[in-house]
Amino acid sequence: MKKNILSLSFVFLTFFLSYLHAQENNYNLLPFPAQFNGGEGQFVLNAQTKIVLTAKDALLKPVVLSFSNTLKTASSLPLTLATAAPATAKNVVLVRLNKALGLGTEGYKLLVSQDRVILEAATPQGAFYGIQTLLQLLPVEVFSPTPVANVAWTVPVCQIQDRPRFSHRGLMLDVGRHFMPVSFIKKYIDLLALHKMNVFHWHLTEDQGWRIEIKKYPKLTQIGSKRKETLVGHYSENYPQKFDGKEHGGFYTQAEIKDIVKYAQSKYVTIIPEIEMPGHSSAALAAYPELGCEPSKGYEVATKWGVMKDVYCPNEKTFTFLQDVLTEVFALFPSKYIHIGGDECPKDAWKQSEFCQDLIKKLKLKDEHELQSYFIKRIEKFVNSKGRAIIGWDEILEGGVAPNATVMSWRGTKGGIEAAKQKHNVIMTPNTYCYLDYYQANPANEPLAIGGYLPLEKVYEYNPTAELSADEQKYILGIQGNVWTEYMPTPAQVEYMTFPRASAIAEIAWGPSGPKNFEDFSTRLKTHLKRMDYQKVNYSKRILDIRAVTQFNNQGQLQVRLEKLDSDSKIYYTTDGKAPTTSSTEYLMPITLDKITTVKAITTAGAKFEEKFFIHRAKGKSYTYANPPAEGVDTDKKKLTDGQVAQSPRNNSEWVRINGKDFEITLDLGEVRPVTKVSTNFLKIIMNNVFPPNSVEIGLSRDGENFKEAIVQPVKYQLEGPWDILPVVADFKTARARYVRIRAKNAGPAPEGHPSAGRPTTIAMDEVVVD
Ligand code: ACM
Repeated sequence: MKKNILSLSFVFLTFFLSYLHAQENNYNLLPFPAQFNGGEGQFVLNAQTKIVLTAKDALLKPVVLSFSNTLKTASSLPLTLATAAPATAKNVVLVRLNKALGLGTEGYKLLVSQDRVILEAATPQGAFYGIQTLLQLLPVEVFSPTPVANVAWTVPVCQIQDRPRFSHRGLMLDVGRHFMPVSFIKKYIDLLALHKMNVFHWHLTEDQGWRIEIKKYPKLTQIGSKRKETLVGHYSENYPQKFDGKEHGGFYTQAEIKDIVKYAQSKYVTIIPEIEMPGHSSAALAAYPELGCEPSKGYEVATKWGVMKDVYCPNEKTFTFLQDVLTEVFALFPSKYIHIGGDECPKDAWKQSEFCQDLIKKLKLKDEHELQSYFIKRIEKFVNSKGRAIIGWDEILEGGVAPNATVMSWRGTKGGIEAAKQKHNVIMTPNTYCYLDYYQANPANEPLAIGGYLPLEKVYEYNPTAELSADEQKYILGIQGNVWTEYMPTPAQVEYMTFPRASAIAEIAWGPSGPKNFEDFSTRLKTHLKRMDYQKVNYSKRILDIRAVTQFNNQGQLQVRLEKLDSDSKIYYTTDGKAPTTSSTEYLMPITLDKITTVKAITTAGAKFEEKFFIHRAKGKSYTYANPPAEGVDTDKKKLTDGQVAQSPRNNSEWVRINGKDFEITLDLGEVRPVTKVSTNFLKIIMNNVFPPNSVEIGLSRDGENFKEAIVQPVKYQLEGPWDILPVVADFKTARARYVRIRAKNAGPAPEGHPSAGRPTTIAMDEVVVD
């Protein structure tokens, strides 16, 4: 009897849990398959379930074992392998090769019924992707590295026919700026495979470090893999720049690389190595100065970021060296494609070099761009002669593209479009959609990043074949996310920046073209994040965050709308400065404000929010510039009175800049009103040539002509030190005025010793607050 009760409660529990799971799963596949039909019911895996693989399909054994091992680890189910099963067998997972499937080399067909699961693919790679889908159809706990109890191991009934849109579905990782350990490279490859991505672009050489062992040139790693110290903070944060005084180094031995390549192959990930040339080569020049145009110069491994003028000299020593290096690279990496860089190669050294100028004449070239083209074409010839092909950044189009090169478009999509029109293959990695080193949320609250702003929903919007004719679209091999690591010193930080934006890239790369639904993606993503929790991925949780948008109601009152990508959680908020709890007011509609207010909020998903909103007399009022800012900046003349006060020197887009002139605006309040206080902020980023004004005059007028009550203030600051925001406040106590004029005096040319000495400086200002 007791036994019966137990088994009865077990049956009930299983039923209940599978019900819960069916509720939650809703086919949270990521990337979502090309063709999908859901059904009723589910296939239940239990102690009797067999995985069937016949002897003729032995090629699939590693893929099948990876599936059964993953499932066994989490479920503790025995999952025996069988080599045959009758056609009517139930409770089986049948995996088989089917060359006639018609879904390409990466496609698969997955049929889940209550009786059985059938997975078919033309290749082991296709079967591997089918297995990834099957794992994602199971409860997320299947990704647990340790046994999980009380889970119903069920797969919802469905029919899937799937194949990728693009053959190149990649992620790049820059290990030059910061070395990343082998264990992390493998984890990165795991995460690529989880997303059905198939290319790991490994950026192995940089100004700041050479990371690949080359037997013939040991100094590349003895000298070139180490830099003596590293810049502290953002490139433009400190004036003068600060350094940490700590050596940073690391490289991958050839044995480690072979191991990683083999590991990647097991996950159907091709590694495309990048050996940069002719630019970004300071580390190689530090090791072998004779490869530069000025061997006696004293080249060093770079300690800060940016584009360096030290580049390979196009002499015979350099070509011999690069061919030797590439020969070792070919032996390590079976990839058809080898990335040769080609980006950001300043021509200063070549302009000053007698050798280069003679070479330009001898080869009858027009200029240094054609010299770079000669360089790349010569390398391409060598690479092609070994049966491989080159990929280069879009600068390789300048001066004439090498005949067989694939172009990686990074400076927006322009280069890629141009290359496709020239009938060259293209990989789209535009910084506007694919640079995962850009900020993904408000820079004021994020870990330091290089700059830019690329939130998840913008990445997801991207269509790699936009603006191309049907014929040109054929040249787009695919898309890739780029992870440059200047500001990512650790694997945890790489994970934070890469995911989940790379999940959006994976879906674009795999899914068919056509309309996209971000809401649907973000719902699936929430389950997908739990899979990454099991893999201990430090992804950004911004999808759960609250963001504020301001608007005005019909009465002209400021309203704050709280938004989030996560549609399930609830928001609770306060406006009295107290910390919100779930007993605070639930957010249901925009919050109307009538005075300066700090809104604090939390969500039931654990996100926190705090922002101060400024209500002031100049809000929404118009103004005129004496010297307009650059074209395209503040064109609608609203930025300085939009109620959103710039919060951080990290965020370019918050500030209005005027270069080389005084910053002068006259603001019209519409009618004569009391004015007690006028305040504004100026930015100080000395490294970037953004200087606070020498002085600021704030004047009031009733008629717009006579500004009598002007208050002049000097702006005091130290040139040295970190970037900063400097407030200026003019206290008028009881004045009345219609017009407010602000005249900020430009600091004049940058002083001696500054990187831009003698050049005009910029004033950057934001939000004129009138009380
Ligand atoms: C690049 O971001 N310089 C390719």
